[in-house]
Amino acid sequence: MSQTHASKTIKARVDELVSSLNEHAYRYYVLSQPTISDAEYDELFRELQRLEHAHPEYVRSDSPTQRVGGKPLEGFATVRHRIPMLSLDNAMNEEELRSFDDQVRRFLAKEGIEQSDIEYTVEFKFDGVAVALTYENGLLIQAATRGDGTIGEDVTSNVRTIKAIPLKLREESEPQGTCEIRGEVLFRKREFEALNAERVARGEESFANPRNAASGSLRQLDPQETAKRPLWFFAYGLGVVESEHRKLVDINARPLNDAMKTIESFGFSISPGFRVVRGVSQLVSAYQAAEAERDSLPFEVDGIVIKVNDTRLQKVLGFRQRSPRWAIAAKFKPVEAVTVLEDIIIQVGRTGALTPVAVLKPVRVGGVIVSRATLHNQDEIERKGVLIGDSVVVRRQGDVIPAVVAPVTAARTGNERAFKFPTRCPECESSVERVPGEAVIRCPNAKCPAKLHNRILHFATRDAMDIEGLGDKMVALLVEHNVVRDLPSLYSLRVEDLQKLPRMGELSSRNLVDGIEQSKTRPLDRFIFALGIRHVGSKTAAVLARHCKNIESFMKLTEQELLTVDEIGPETAHSIASFLSDENEQELVRALRERGVRPAEITIDQKKAATLSGKTFVLTGAFASMSRKEAEEKIVEYGGKVSSSVSKKTSFVVAGESPGSKLDNARALGVAILSEDELLKMF
Ligand code: IVH
Repeated sequence: MSQTHASKTIKARVDELVSSLNEHAYRYYVLSQPTISDAEYDELFRELQRLEHAHPEYVRSDSPTQRVGGKPLEGFATVRHRIPMLSLDNAMNEEELRSFDDQVRRFLAKEGIEQSDIEYTVEFKFDGVAVALTYENGLLIQAATRGDGTIGEDVTSNVRTIKAIPLKLREESEPQGTCEIRGEVLFRKREFEALNAERVARGEESFANPRNAASGSLRQLDPQETAKRPLWFFAYGLGVVESEHRKLVDINARPLNDAMKTIESFGFSISPGFRVVRGVSQLVSAYQAAEAERDSLPFEVDGIVIKVNDTRLQKVLGFRQRSPRWAIAAKFKPVEAVTVLEDIIIQVGRTGALTPVAVLKPVRVGGVIVSRATLHNQDEIERKGVLIGDSVVVRRQGDVIPAVVAPVTAARTGNERAFKFPTRCPECESSVERVPGEAVIRCPNAKCPAKLHNRILHFATRDAMDIEGLGDKMVALLVEHNVVRDLPSLYSLRVEDLQKLPRMGELSSRNLVDGIEQSKTRPLDRFIFALGIRHVGSKTAAVLARHCKNIESFMKLTEQELLTVDEIGPETAHSIASFLSDENEQELVRALRERGVRPAEITIDQKKAATLSGKTFVLTGAFASMSRKEAEEKIVEYGGKVSSSVSKKTSFVVAGESPGSKLDNARALGVAILSEDELLKMF
């Protein structure tokens, strides 16, 4: 066989394998109708790998071997959405859904369009992470998260690992030009539970809900990690379309359900049960039917999304500030279940607060198994009147931590007993204290191991010192074996000491020591946040860091001075001042510095900072050149202040696209109004 002939056949075989593997993946992930076994799939896959290895020149970008290719990233680049990714207004019940239909018809009537029965599309509202996928000439070239709607993060290499997302659109005549598909990346309930079980077994923290799991998985810096997570994707709409493809040319002029059919034909799953209904009574029936179907779905949904099907009517209806008038999310009732309150235990937090936690007989609530719920504090327990042994109603909705709603008093047997709030800390036996006027009961012992545990955990979290590998189980191990007795002793840990602990190898020990070492020079604001001062979150920490610039002047702050800092209220000022005057805390900071912790100083360009000094800005609407957050940061960088509401003290209201009521307020109060360009010129 001649060389050219042989290579032709190899190339042909590679092409054939790619097409066939992609077709099988589509049947599996989108149609849920696989026609070959996993083993057969794997065999074809390995053949393709072998051929590609020997002939790298034939590797195609849509080859299934190319889903995980990229190296770990340093961070995510930002992506501007050419068409903003909007949010949706909510209807919480049937009545509000009816009133949505009413408003749609009335708005149209005002524009001279009389329609008694509007056509609506109905689909599930997925509870995952919104992403925009850009295909160029049929190939996936970019995937971005929604972000703030204008600017998202580039998660292309992670999204490429999701098998329900085609790397190439399924089209014989390839779509020319650009086509952006939008939808939701999510975890299915079963795989979510399996993931959590695995994480717990490995000593890692479990995710609170499938949405957090999806978001965490998409934001892995190493695509290899994302590839291990069984993510799914459902498409719900289009973004930018600039294409001569016959199915796309006039897509925005045709009804929405046509666009959805096109999206499906490109190889995507759309919402199961997607349909078109006519008029409000069909709409309400569809809402009820969807709610009844909710538990039988493999993934979590918290409602349905309803959109006007006629795109011409959509154009007439237009947008409110951040949401279209032609669509609404109709939420389902919060999910509740009844289970037994087996016990109430006390958790001691970082500040020493004793929080009662309900230990529940595990129960499935909206697709997730719940076995713990917070009871907040003693007053709450009394107010709700729950007894240990009670049957209780447990509720969760969206990302809200499950809560005990009320006891089912009719189910009482007489064997229930009241919970007695302990007078001593369950961790260290110190007498607890209740601060007058506060609901919280605290352990006052500075050396309480539970406090230490949570304090270290907080110190190490991502927004604080960001110490890789120092999670819940690791902290427990360190505290339990007494190798860490306070925060400074973290910085004396040696690989040899760690290696002696159970389950710690040389590599993990070294990684932890390295992670701790790297945290020494985190910026000042993170360090301040990491100290865990009551009322001081990341935002306040940033204000303090900007005000003080270095750790020395931070330690010298007085309550008087703090009260002059604009964004700091009296309660926070008091809390910071009492922290700084506490000898133990002073000693803590001193010891940390002695061990080499050198928070990076905040450098401020004086010239810059003088530019907008004394000026207060209020932002409204969307900006074209940057996100709201970026605009805010920029104003602060240049010495200005940003406030959320307009008053006489406001210097400028900056109005972007589709501004809200703040603009009206500005006019009413005679506050100067700037355009985005005018703001940019100020910098
Ligand atoms: S349509 C203008 N359809 O909900 C239309 N969104 O609150 C905007 N979402 O960011 C989106 N399921 O992440 C649409 N079937 C669905 C959806 C859906 C979930 C999310 C989406 C969006 C948010 C808006």
